Amino acid sequence: MARPQVFVARRIPDAGLQLIEAECDVEVWPKRLPPSPEILREKARSCVGLVSLLTDRIDAALLDAAPKLRVVSNFAVGVNNIDLAAATARKIPVGNTPGALTDATADIAVTLLLAAARRLGESSLDARAGRWLTWEPLGWLGRDLAGRTLGVVGMGRIGFATAKRLHGGWGMKVLYTARQPKPDADRELGARHVDLETLLAESDFVSVHADLNPTTKGMFGAAEFAKMKRTAVFVNTARGPHVDQPALANALRTGTIFAAGLDVTEPEPLPPEHELYSLPNCVIAPHIASATVDTRNAMATLCARNLLAGVKGERLPHCVNPAVYETQ
Ligand code: GLV
Repeated sequence: MARPQVFVARRIPDAGLQLIEAECDVEVWPKRLPPSPEILREKARSCVGLVSLLTDRIDAALLDAAPKLRVVSNFAVGVNNIDLAAATARKIPVGNTPGALTDATADIAVTLLLAAARRLGESSLDARAGRWLTWEPLGWLGRDLAGRTLGVVGMGRIGFATAKRLHGGWGMKVLYTARQPKPDADRELGARHVDLETLLAESDFVSVHADLNPTTKGMFGAAEFAKMKRTAVFVNTARGPHVDQPALANALRTGTIFAAGLDVTEPEPLPPEHELYSLPNCVIAPHIASATVDTRNAMATLCARNLLAGVKGERLPHCVNPAVYETQ
């Protein structure tokens, strides 16, 4: 019997690729940069299964060009690159990789928070550039973490793991926003469910973990930065478009807030000439939150399981549009 045809839009770890290759005819996009939308559409034309990355736009045009497609398995937890309504309308289940990257992403949120609070990027560059003249009582003064207040915007798995680290390690008080109060966070972390306005006004550190959708896009603009403390540190490990970047750059330049740590930007990659790189109080990482060996292996395994279930017509272990399984 013919094996199902699958396109994998970038080389992923063997932990997942080998599972797919054991059961399918696989073409892997071999280049470092993503396939263009035209190429992706062409590749999807004859496929039963598609492994996509957050850099691949999966929209109605692509889905319409792929009449045999039975599953899209995204190698990511976020699925904002996929038009879910279009996939659902065509009864195509979409898989993602929740849980696998929770710890690694929380680690990067804490890393960026510390780096921004303690001016690590700036002082390290100064040292390399010969601006480390002596031990200075007033040099590179940052912000303490112990006992301060953390504001978690979006208390899902990753927000919780970040808060757990900062509450457990530094005794931070935790405020959070979420669609619903989270009893686990209240109980385990003594956290308090508040509105965004209260969170911005009371937090020393604001860490973004909300998913990107039309209601969260651009949610951090000039008005939000103005509500934050002048000593506040802003961290984003979720998605770049949550933030109005010119407003953030202005807030960092004018001292409206103290510093920022970003793992995500808009666009990605952020061009080297972008203003945010020139601001000493902005630490930028190239979207590396899930970039550990074990985490990427775990993501690849989940991604393969979703794909294989989909090509066999079985329910995906992690499906973000379960409405496809409703009858009628
Ligand atoms: C990474 O950003 C992901 O959504 O997995």
